[in-house]
Amino acid sequence: MTISVLIVCLGNICRSPMGEAVLRNEALKRGITDIHVDSAGTAAAHVGEDPDERTIEVCNTNNVPISHAARQVRASDFTSFNYILAADGSNLRALERHFGRSEGSEATVRLWGSYLSDNKPIQDPYYGGMDGFTKCYEQCVKLSNAFLDEVVGKGGLGTR
Ligand code: 4NP
Repeated sequence: MTISVLIVCLGNICRSPMGEAVLRNEALKRGITDIHVDSAGTAAAHVGEDPDERTIEVCNTNNVPISHAARQVRASDFTSFNYILAADGSNLRALERHFGRSEGSEATVRLWGSYLSDNKPIQDPYYGGMDGFTKCYEQCVKLSNAFLDEVVGKGGLGTR
């Protein structure tokens, strides 16, 4: 069976498109093909835009393919995705505020960082320098692997 994962941040141009690209890439490295990954933002300000050039730069440096047009989270995401993973606590609260009682939703909605014991958010790198984007990339790699370990396990999707 295919699992579907939506990574969510505020603008959908820095953290979540990077998270989407990294999770897909880490899954591919494990030979997992039955996973669908997308990303979205809680805000509409950057809808239609390419990822931030610093996100693209970090992905290029690490040979992670990235291609995404920013979009806002929509109600149907709560019925079409199995997992909705928020980059930070503010993103998670926004998801819960707007969609907390989505009818028919069986999606698991969690802080992405909750798949590691330190439960850390991915901090917003938008107003900072490249170091914030590098740190974001490193977190995305760790969180992708923590997520895949927990949800897919070592034996493939059949074991969930
Ligand atoms: P993101 O970063 O949520 O990781 O995409 C941001 C992008 C844009 C803004 C804030 C954060 N903004 O204020 O426009």
